[in-house]
Amino acid sequence: MAQASSPDPRSPLRALLRRMPKAELHLHIEGSLEPELIFRLAARNGVTLPYASVDALRAAYAFTDLQSFLDLYYAGASVLLQEQDFFDMAWAYFERAAADNVVRAELFFDPQTHTERGVPIEAVIGGLADACARAHAEFGIESALILCFLRHLSEDEAFATLEAALPHRAHFIGVGLDSSERGHPPEKFARVFARAGELGLHRVAHAGEEGPAAYIETALDLLQVQRIDHGVRCTESPALVQRLARTRVPLTVCPLSNVRLCVYPDLAAHPLPALLDAGLCVTINSDDPAYFGGYVVQNYLELFDAHPALTVQHARQLAANSFEASFASASRKACWLRELDAVVARMTA
Ligand code: HPA
Ligand code: ZN
Repeated sequence: MAQASSPDPRSPLRALLRRMPKAELHLHIEGSLEPELIFRLAARNGVTLPYASVDALRAAYAFTDLQSFLDLYYAGASVLLQEQDFFDMAWAYFERAAADNVVRAELFFDPQTHTERGVPIEAVIGGLADACARAHAEFGIESALILCFLRHLSEDEAFATLEAALPHRAHFIGVGLDSSERGHPPEKFARVFARAGELGLHRVAHAGEEGPAAYIETALDLLQVQRIDHGVRCTESPALVQRLARTRVPLTVCPLSNVRLCVYPDLAAHPLPALLDAGLCVTINSDDPAYFGGYVVQNYLELFDAHPALTVQHARQLAANSFEASFASASRKACWLRELDAVVARMTA
């Protein structure tokens, strides 16, 4: 007689990872552009792509480092021309986020990638802000926009971008720093981050993804950032790990991104579980999900698969950290924590 297969002892944990409410805090909206949508927008806008098909484009997603990814990421974004394109891109993300039980999303956007192609900044921000409003109305997802400066460009260009965005100040809550990290240390942007602080904007920066642990320290000390994006190379400095544990300055970690960009050979080698156990406010995020093999729940699932020692309590702590690390109000955070604990209690009873 055929043996009935025994139930997977990890499946209740996998269900919890899907079902629990969570915040996503490190998501480049241009990195959510799936190949199918790239082709649809290219056709709509009369843009010619150097790939014959969706499959040919997807086949090119074999990255060796951050720069090899960024080259394709900027090429993909070249199909975005009209306000409607930015709306459609963000709406597609929110549909995925709703399916992953994301209740708060803080979205990075790169205005310079678009303004340098002649796209008006109001088309960029207008389309994204409309999608954010509709996501709240239809899915109850609370969201916010964070304007990122491209660090391979100059600080003067960052200043010009900030000035151009100020008429739309109501639609973004903070500034960030992304693109090629090595050779572009945080101090290059110290003055524009100081200006952002004067304007009452939140400040975050990518640091310690490919760059050294020292970039995490200078982002904290010279840019006064409230969160570090990635930050995984803090492991190279025990003193910095201790500082991050003590201050609970959050790290927005992106496990699948780190493997796809060859920061780690595989998820089993990823330091997130050790950082969590050391008391850091680490969070799980998807970075550029269309390019790196999955949205936020996929990041949770694959990380937990690769680390059998991770438990329900770790899952709860990661979701709680995502709320703690968000820029939402204290009352919203308290409300999501209560929902989280209710879901954990129900699913582990
Ligand atoms: N790192 C730096 N810049 C980026 C990334 C990233 O992972 N994704 C989009 N821009
Ligand atoms: Zn990123």
